[in-house]
Amino acid sequence: MPENILIAIAWPYANAEIHVGNLTGSHLPGDIVARYHRLKGNNVLVVSGTDSHGTPVTMSADKLKKPVEEVYKFYHEGFLETFKGYGITYDMFTSTHTENHFKVSQSIFLALQKNGYLFTKIEPQWFSPGLNKFLPDRYIEGTCYICGFEGARSDQCDKCGNVLEPDKLINPKSKWAGDTSTPELRETEHFYIDLSKLEPQVVEFLQARAEHMRETVLGESLGKINAEGLKPRPITRDLDWGIPVPVAGWEGKCLYVWFEAVIGYLSAAIEWSKVAETEGTTKGDWKAWWSNPAAKHYHFIGKDNIFFHTSLWPAELMGVGAQFAEIFSDEKNVPLSLPYDVPANQFMNLEGQKISGSRNWAVWGRDALTRYDPDALRYYLTVNMPEAKDSDWDWAEFVARNNGELVATWGNLANRVLSFSFKHWDGHAPNIDPASLRDSDRALLATVEDGFRAVGDLYNAVKLRDALKESLRLATEVNRYLDANAPWTAIKTDKDSAALTIFTALKAIDSLKLLFAPILPFTSAKLHGFLGYETPLFGEQYIQEISDNLGVHTALRYREVGGDSISPLQWQPSQLQPGQKLNQPGPLFKKLEEKVVEEERARLGK
Ligand code: MF3
Ligand code: ZN
Repeated sequence: MPENILIAIAWPYANAEIHVGNLTGSHLPGDIVARYHRLKGNNVLVVSGTDSHGTPVTMSADKLKKPVEEVYKFYHEGFLETFKGYGITYDMFTSTHTENHFKVSQSIFLALQKNGYLFTKIEPQWFSPGLNKFLPDRYIEGTCYICGFEGARSDQCDKCGNVLEPDKLINPKSKWAGDTSTPELRETEHFYIDLSKLEPQVVEFLQARAEHMRETVLGESLGKINAEGLKPRPITRDLDWGIPVPVAGWEGKCLYVWFEAVIGYLSAAIEWSKVAETEGTTKGDWKAWWSNPAAKHYHFIGKDNIFFHTSLWPAELMGVGAQFAEIFSDEKNVPLSLPYDVPANQFMNLEGQKISGSRNWAVWGRDALTRYDPDALRYYLTVNMPEAKDSDWDWAEFVARNNGELVATWGNLANRVLSFSFKHWDGHAPNIDPASLRDSDRALLATVEDGFRAVGDLYNAVKLRDALKESLRLATEVNRYLDANAPWTAIKTDKDSAALTIFTALKAIDSLKLLFAPILPFTSAKLHGFLGYETPLFGEQYIQEISDNLGVHTALRYREVGGDSISPLQWQPSQLQPGQKLNQPGPLFKKLEEKVVEEERARLGK
């Protein structure tokens, strides 16, 4: 029975370009797991989008002196291009600034209100007389009342690390460009979600996942709850850019960005359903992922987002409860599905230092694609994925691993076997009798075939570094087998034995092609073609314009080639036949020159 897998990837803020840390942190692992499950024949839906609201975005617009709408669209377009370039196969990469997302978020808010999980409270907050509006926490700076640090934010001090009570800040100053007025405290009313009421359910939810959740994620989530409990959180803000609070008399206030952005996982699936229907998909509707107790939801995020995905989002879903059926007129009345796993990654540094966009200490995703192939980058980002601890992008290591592993162990293996077969068997695989395979041939094939279980289990458990390592180890086994059988020499004296060796090696690389495919989709697809297959290995990405009452937005989409009625290629050992017709092969990867290291280092920090 195919499973329904939702791959939910963190929504990037529309205030900076995507860098390698973002890619290895969430988008790439999400794509790898998605591709694996597609090959397994599961029903996969990959969703995310641009996080278009919130102070990070308004502050950046403020700095650029441009309208927020323009700024969010600018970064959004860049995201689409970047993810397309890296082959991140989103079924729906949309934005939070869509009519659909507004409506779904407002419905969830109202359901929580109806179920008694929201309350309102009046509290003093910083107000700018000059701008005549309330200032978000990040727009206020002053002196920390604990340590005396002068550049403290109103809600947190970066010097002493304390969370601050905003109204106690000393000598507050507005950080809004051009605002010279002195902020003052004024009372304002906000909605809060009473997480304390949902705490027992959240704890139970986490404990039920203790077996398969990463220790880093579970430990942090339960640790935080044990230490301070789940407290009520304000979920509205005095802002004009965002989703209006759907309550009369609350004009001029918006939903808090984190409250609504996580709802994007649901709203993007709904949007996908709506547009996919007009495209004649047979994949099903969003309820197959959201109103289905057997569906599995994976959240790919960075470690700084853990609380929001292991506590806030599940609490929102639990709080909606049975209202779900009412909001979405679902006859089944099944509650919304909760996250199954949240395989949050740690951070990737760059040459030993924290990545920083403002200092240009970053390897930017799009820029790197102008000089390197996507699979070379995907390879290094997977080998170095910060699954258990922070990792480091090092240009010397990038070159060394590209040349010494990707090219030497895997690329050359595929290339020399294919070229040799193409040349000596006239564009075909050797036409051998399978019954004549020797024990050593069978042993090699058995070893590689076992990879479908071993590597598959690793992909399934989101241990992607290990999945890659194991696939590479199998490639090394095939190299060893080839060296031992030396078909290059045998061909001169005993073509039959060379034929057995080459046929076996072709079958082995045909299998390895699939084991590597989730990580190296571009080159695996190429190799798939060299091996003579006509059905595509994966579908294709495309950019689509969608219009609604808020305007037009673009989305990154994915479709199976030839419609999704094509049965997906299965995760199974090579089906290559004796005498199978091949296509003219070529190299899969490029060797990089040593001078790349110095060139790239010189680019940093400029
Ligand atoms: N925009 C947030 C960040 O970049 C992530 C939001 S994930 C979401 O840290 F699902 F909540 F949207
Ligand atoms: Zn301080």
